[in-house]
Formats: sequence, C-alpha cells, structure tokens
Amino acid sequence: MPTASFMTELAAPIFTPADYFRELTPQEIFAEWERPLELDLGSGDGTFLVEMAALYPERNFLGVERLLGRVEKTAKRIRQRGLKNVRVLRLETTYTLSWLLPADLATRIHVLCPDPWPKKKHHGRRLFNDAEFLGGLRKVLREGGEFLFKTDDHNYYQEALEVMSGQSAFQRLDWAEDAFPYPKTDFEIQWLALSKSVERARWRKAIPGDCE
Ligand SMILES: C[S@@+](CC[C@H](N)C(=O)[O-])C[C@H]1O[C@@H](n2cnc3c(N)ncnc32)[C@H](O)[C@@H]1O
Repeated sequence: MPTASFMTELAAPIFTPADYFRELTPQEIFAEWERPLELDLGSGDGTFLVEMAALYPERNFLGVERLLGRVEKTAKRIRQRGLKNVRVLRLETTYTLSWLLPADLATRIHVLCPDPWPKKKHHGRRLFNDAEFLGGLRKVLREGGEFLFKTDDHNYYQEALEVMSGQSAFQRLDWAEDAFPYPKTDFEIQWLALSKSVERARWRKAIPGDCE
C-alpha cells in the first residue's frame, strides 16, 4: 500500500526519482501509471508538453530537460493549469533512456527541435548520431509505439532520415500536418515567426511479424 507522502510526491510537477542509479518502475512515475505514457525529450520551456497533457487527459506525459530554469518554467505551467497527468524530470536524455526508464514504457516518444549542432565538427553530438541514444529509444518505446521528430535544420533532418532508415526496428510513417492534434513547441513558434520552415518525420517501432 503506497504511503500518503509517496502519493504526494507522485503529484508534484517535478519528478525527482528516489534513486538515480537503478531502473524505475512505472508506478514510481505516475499515480495513474496504467495510462499510456508519452515522453518529450529535451522539453524546453514545456509549452508542447503541457498543451499535450491538456489535450489528452487519458494519457500521461513526462518531459525530460537538462536545464533547471526550463524545468522550473514547465513546472509553473503545470501548476497553473492544474494538470495531474504531466511531470518533468531534470536529467540528461540518453542517461534517462538507457539507465532510468524501464523497457516498453512509452507509447510515443517526441524529440522536437533538438539542438542541431550545425557545425560539422559538432555533428557527433547530435542525438541521432549517438548509438546509446538509439538503443535507449528502441528499449523504452513499446512495439507499435511512435517516435516523432521535428527540426528547422534541413541538414540535420536529412541525416536523421538516413540514420533511421538503417534502424530495422523502425518503419517510417506519413505525417500530414493535420493528422492529429499536435501543438507547436516554443522553438517552433519562434522559428515560424521568422519564416523558417520546420520539417517533421514519424516512425513506428515494428511489431515482430509485421512484415511477414
Ligand atoms: C532547441 S531546444 C528545444 C526545446 C523544445 N523541444 C522546443 O521545441 O521548444 C532543445 C532543448 O533540449 C535540451 N537538451 C539538449 N540536449 C539535452 C540532453 N542531452 N538531455 C536533456 N535535455 C537536453 C536543451 O536544454 C533545450 O531545452
């Protein structure tokens, strides 16, 4: 039987794991842990995360963001909206996927406008070029789950498509702009205001036997 203080901790907008050195259980992240869970990796100031939680109250949303100021801004937004199905974790994305979150936790994973590292000498820092990140993505996303990506950097977009085409666990899906409600992120709003274009891609984690 969970204690009253544990239930209070579970309701806090900022998710602080009891232990950063072992894999968590879904029950440690949300009180209503049976709901489908979506991850927003590099969630920034949290506009997208919070709007999604308001749009889809039957799902849980966990943001992962390494900058404290952005995490605090997100937590303020969650409190202001009175939402109970969204939390934010202050941590590094790849560590979170590889070591903290259990396998098959997420039904959708969003990576929206990640740092593009435009200089060639920094391309190795891009998430899509990190084998550990890709392994973590495969682990944490459920079979049949979706991975959604947006960027304003065309070179990064092309590179991401190439990397993902080599991932046999993932199949590319169409993603029409109005396919389903999908709020814009803070960075996307800024870029669109500057008349930049934002490209998007969506993949599904295959279910064994899909192509047989
Ligand atoms: C360009 S911003 C985009 C933020 C948000 N997704 C949006 O579109 O408004 C990238 C965000 O990812 C965060 N970030 C970058 N690398 C990260 C990592 N390895 N782990 C966690 N957060 C990261 C940055 O701090 C920043 O807030």
